[in-house]
Amino acid sequence: MIEVVCIEHPVSSNLLSVLRNKRTTYYHFRQNLDRLSYILAVYSLAGLNAKKINIKTPLSPAKGIVTTDKVVLVPVLRAGIGLVKGFLDLYPEAIVSHIGIYREESTLKPIRYYFKYPKIRNKKKVYTIVLDPMIATGGSMIDTINALKGIGIKNIFVVSLLCAPEGLKALSKAFPGKNIKIKIFTFSIDKNLNKKGYIMPGLGDAGDRYFGT
Ligand code: PRP
Ligand code: URA
Repeated sequence: MIEVVCIEHPVSSNLLSVLRNKRTTYYHFRQNLDRLSYILAVYSLAGLNAKKINIKTPLSPAKGIVTTDKVVLVPVLRAGIGLVKGFLDLYPEAIVSHIGIYREESTLKPIRYYFKYPKIRNKKKVYTIVLDPMIATGGSMIDTINALKGIGIKNIFVVSLLCAPEGLKALSKAFPGKNIKIKIFTFSIDKNLNKKGYIMPGLGDAGDRYFGT
């Protein structure tokens, strides 16, 4: 089952407009993508479980909380790396797993070349967040979720900058039932995909623009 949260905020809209602009250099692109990753981290970590604790301020006893989930970030290589910074700055205890997938240029089918997830016995206490700036055909995200599902992860958060309606439709079709819960945080659902599978209006190739390749 898929839930999509489209974040509307003047700060994120401003930063996203810089990323969309073709005149933005790769280092400004990187800087602004880093900034957006903090906003995605705040929204997507809002569901963390926590327990109440007693603490002492310099002046008085007080009530506090401590989070109890183990956070595992799963950036989709390469471009997902660009979203890691905000998460690790705000939540340094997070574990960073990786999945390597690229789209085969002519078929647009995902090719998985790497997957490493930590060995954790109690999967119910794990808060897994997949990071990928673009959901275009949805193929890479479907493959990522299948990899996670295969090792018993059934509650998955996804953060992205942009989604194409086609990709969201494909994800809903691939995971229709209630046995897997997927919550996607994004800044925009764009218009459509072009013939080459690029999100329109989009921002071009996220990996190339982030890494300057
Ligand atoms: C981009 C992007 C997603 C994928 C989305 O990666 O980061 O992973 O395309 O497309 P899809 O929804 O149609 O699968 P790309 O394949 O360009 O690899 P890269 O990050 O290594 O550049
Ligand atoms: N991957 C990208 O980086 N951009 C798109 O528009 C589609 C897939």
